[in-house]
Amino acid sequence: MSCSVIAFSNQKGGVGKSTSVVATAGCLLGRGYTVLVIDTDPQATASSYMVSDFEKQEEGREASLYHLIMDENLSVPDSIVHTPSGDLITASFLLYDMDRLGLGTSAIKEIVDEVRGQYDFILIDTPPNLGWLQTAALEASDDIVIPTKATAQSIRGIPTFFDTVYYVQNTNPKLRILGFLITMSNKRVLACKAIAGELETIAQQMGCQVFPEWIRLAEGLFGEAEAMHTNVFQMHRKNNALKDYAAFADALIKAVK
Ligand SMILES: Nc1ncnc2c1ncn2[C@@H]1O[C@H](COP(=O)(O)OP(=O)(O)OP(=O)(O)O)[C@@H](O)[C@H]1O
Ligand SMILES: [Mg+2]
Repeated sequence: MSCSVIAFSNQKGGVGKSTSVVATAGCLLGRGYTVLVIDTDPQATASSYMVSDFEKQEEGREASLYHLIMDENLSVPDSIVHTPSGDLITASFLLYDMDRLGLGTSAIKEIVDEVRGQYDFILIDTPPNLGWLQTAALEASDDIVIPTKATAQSIRGIPTFFDTVYYVQNTNPKLRILGFLITMSNKRVLACKAIAGELETIAQQMGCQVFPEWIRLAEGLFGEAEAMHTNVFQMHRKNNALKDYAAFADALIKAVK
């Protein structure tokens, strides 16, 4: 089976990108697939979800994504951390520097190309902006999932995001938008349904879909797991939002495999 490299991207902050990456990785792993998560966000949210005591573990370790990009002698397999929700290349606050270093944007693609033969899925978490890391992440990807809340504010920046996708398609013409993943929203709320209708229209124009599997709000759950630095998926299998992620992961498998 060939590897699918999927970026979870949206320059809007706080829409569930990192949560979606980690929960989806956990679901895919549970389905028997091999999964690598690459955390390209200097905030390192996905890394801290996946590694217990992330900050302590990373102290003095020179094998994050930043180090892989900067140190030619560091091998990709040596940088990979094995976690209960999949393998991981960790982020680091050092990535905040990337925008001003002026490096070529194929740096993450080179890393992905080295290991894509070893995984069924590589999921890339991206930062909430359209800078170097976003471009480099999209250049390394085959497909994009756009997590968004069903609120007017969350969908406002979508045209700008598409401009970045078109720009990257100049160098990565196979890059494809799979669709919108609606997070932290309830299908029964009329205002959410109206926004989902707007997303449907955009998706039709773009030739992608709005995944019918919405992720419900799970009050407290993710915040608690974050504070405890634990794997949410293992802790709370019966949670509604995680059931939604399991359904989404199945839809994702169908969409790409
Ligand atoms: N389904 C959910 N139910 C409840 N809380 C959620 C859910 N999904 C995400 N959250 C919470 O919402 C906040 C934002 O989620 P997350 O960090 O995944 O978003 P993000 O898009 O990656 O943010 P950023 O843009 O800062 O990287 C977090 O506190 C997370 O715990
Ligand atoms: Mg995030």
